Amino acid sequence: MAYYCQECGYKSLKWLGRCPECGGWNTFLEEKESSIKPKNKSRISNKPIKVLKLSDIKYEVKPRILTGLSELDLVLGGGFVPGSFILIGGDPGIGKSTLLTQVAGVLAEKGLKIVYLSAEESAEQVKLRVERLGLGDEVLFIGDTELSTIIEELKTIKPDLLIVDSIQTVFLPELESPPGGVSQIRECANLLMRFAKEQEVVTIVVGHITKGGLIAGPKVLEHLVDVVLYLEGEKETGFRILRAVKNRFGPVNEIGVFLMTSKGLVPHSQCEDLFLSGEENAAVFCVIEGTRPLLVEVQSLVAKSFLALPRRTAVGFDPIRLSLLVAILEKKLNFNFSNQDIYVKISGGLKITDPSADMAVAVSLVSSLLEKPLPDKTIFIGEIGLSGEIKPVREIALRLKEAEKKGFKRAFVPERLNLPKHNLSLEIIPCRKLLEVCEKIF
Ligand code: TYD
Ligand code: MG
Repeated sequence: MAYYCQECGYKSLKWLGRCPECGGWNTFLEEKESSIKPKNKSRISNKPIKVLKLSDIKYEVKPRILTGLSELDLVLGGGFVPGSFILIGGDPGIGKSTLLTQVAGVLAEKGLKIVYLSAEESAEQVKLRVERLGLGDEVLFIGDTELSTIIEELKTIKPDLLIVDSIQTVFLPELESPPGGVSQIRECANLLMRFAKEQEVVTIVVGHITKGGLIAGPKVLEHLVDVVLYLEGEKETGFRILRAVKNRFGPVNEIGVFLMTSKGLVPHSQCEDLFLSGEENAAVFCVIEGTRPLLVEVQSLVAKSFLALPRRTAVGFDPIRLSLLVAILEKKLNFNFSNQDIYVKISGGLKITDPSADMAVAVSLVSSLLEKPLPDKTIFIGEIGLSGEIKPVREIALRLKEAEKKGFKRAFVPERLNLPKHNLSLEIIPCRKLLEVCEKIF
């Protein structure tokens, strides 16, 4: 017996309160040793090692499988690569099964052979969902959990796509440890990976993330798989963001934006501007997520504080960055926030790390402090330095183009701007200091 960290799979002979590998607290659980031992020694072959020359290797490019869900295809880098092994993680109820049911339904309609393996939901439940989503139901369903026998069956079925919902529920009886434990997950994943590669079946595996750490998170799996996708978002808002954090066949940090509706997940490109409300005290900026520009809104509320230590609260924005911007506004622009509570909120449940949002956050703070509205149809792009200067940002042309496309009329941008020759109809206002921006709009 040994203890395994349920988050990262670290093995220890005694119980530990804190995992030395991943730093998780109270994550150790006792499990049987995981290795499946080879039945006899003769399996270890004495064959010489084959050394290959890359230039001699012939391969044929297999066409990728497009799902028709535009945002998913984008995140994958242009559809599924045959034989790829994909992990999708996310909080319970966020919509993983919904997304995969849609994928299964759409591809089944195109005539592909799909196997949906689910121990979490019954065949009736899955069928009901497929019908509710108005998709084809030519999908094969397996409700079993014993993976080794399932794999044997799958070898005769020969599907094009296998969905395993979820990896925590399948198990190998020879391991003796309970389903969902780290050793089970690792061995099951290994088996599935071999199946995906040998049979060239796109295999998508769902992994739950739990806070309690009792069920293994997908961390252990991330090393094994080709692609790691995370589905995230706030359940209340209906926005879902699909993020590729690892992708052997395409760009990482590409995001797909969906809206959860009664007809399942609808790609953002088919919806209206999700992150813009058009309210007059909201400042608009443009972030680059992966390769795509997204227009996002920030709203601020500055209100007289009755606390000894006024609040600085930010939703979707780094609170340290917020304090920094407030300090710059106080010191360099002589605004007084010292007796004010500050609340900043990014629309749509997005979390912003792009520094180009600085200018928009700063002007929205000033707007709320002075109780003066921001100009209409105006976008603010620029990082703010500690002395209040506006620093250039990358991909400015892409951002301006997106703003123009969405009907914006004016753009405040950094002065040191390497804008290539353009024919934008946008009025571009280069500024060197944050003070200049404020003087122009208030
Ligand atoms: P689900 O895909 O079951 O989540 P997960 O597999 O990640 O745990 O999603 C469940 C939620 O999605 C549930 O609260 C209902 C909602 N939902 C819709 O809003 N519209 C739909 O068409 C479907 C199928 C689900
Ligand atoms: Mg589910």
